[in-house]
Amino acid sequence: MSAKNIRIEVMQAIESKVNGFIDQYLIPIQDIWQPTDFLPDSQSDGFLDAVKQIQEESKELGYDFWVTMVADTITEEALPTYESWLMDVEGVDQHGENKNGWSKWVRHWTAEENRHGDVLNKYLYLSGRVNMREVEITTQHLIADGFDIGTDRDPYKNFVYTSFQELATNISHKRVGQMAKKGGNTLLGKMCTIIAGDEMRHHLAYREFVKSIFEHDPNQMMLAFADMMKKKIVMPAHFLRESGGSIGTAFENFSNCAQRLGVYTAMDYIDILKKLNTYWELDSIRALNDDAERARDYLMKLPERLERIATRMKFPEDDYQFKWVEANGRL
Ligand SMILES: [Fe+2]
Ligand SMILES: [Fe+2]
Repeated sequence: MSAKNIRIEVMQAIESKVNGFIDQYLIPIQDIWQPTDFLPDSQSDGFLDAVKQIQEESKELGYDFWVTMVADTITEEALPTYESWLMDVEGVDQHGENKNGWSKWVRHWTAEENRHGDVLNKYLYLSGRVNMREVEITTQHLIADGFDIGTDRDPYKNFVYTSFQELATNISHKRVGQMAKKGGNTLLGKMCTIIAGDEMRHHLAYREFVKSIFEHDPNQMMLAFADMMKKKIVMPAHFLRESGGSIGTAFENFSNCAQRLGVYTAMDYIDILKKLNTYWELDSIRALNDDAERARDYLMKLPERLERIATRMKFPEDDYQFKWVEANGRL
């Protein structure tokens, strides 16, 4: 049987557990927070005062902070790309009689994720610190440009990617939240922290999917994991551009900003890898074939190798000026 057919069989075998995963890792709609829980109520008399307060507090936070907030928001806003990508993965089916638990997972996950871009976008708009039209143009570009994360339609590679990426967003939202709080911006701090909580639940779910796959098809799962790490996990917004710019040009500048702020760094990347290696108990998987043994060996040694490279890395103090945040806002 081809590796692809085996993958589809494995997806079918795990499918019966997906409803349980939805119950365990997602929160029912009637119980979960909504963006308005963290934003001024536009039906209340105090609305304009609350907006004023947000604008005052927003002045306390600097240029790099807002650039990072904007890029995080745009990354969330490109959700249509992620949903359509995941719906297209082998073993996920949303059509007619073949409709399965995996497509239900993708829809429910998307429904939770959709609140992130929503709340962040509204906050940015109210903050008075960013040029929303430029932010909107970048968002439209990013959705139009799509992404290429090197997973093909392979569920194994896609779930490695999402396991990794959900934890990366957990880290960055959490750090942005801490900075906001430090800057006296309590509301924004709360907002980012609660988003980080969602990302953590999603991470726990995806890493569980991979764990189940390891139980069914350890050789191919190991190869898929190693393949993703060899290519490096690219950020979902790696095609980021500003108005008038060419594809991907804004991403590096944003990444520098996030590194400077310490919101998401090369060391975080390595930490995530270590956590995945540990949770998937790479060291104790038995009876691997030669290729998978080599892949495991590569993965076990990779954190140390990356650490050596990371300590030598330097991040340019660029003076790039994003159009999203006003020049006079540079602090
Ligand atoms: Fe998110
Ligand atoms: Fe997420």
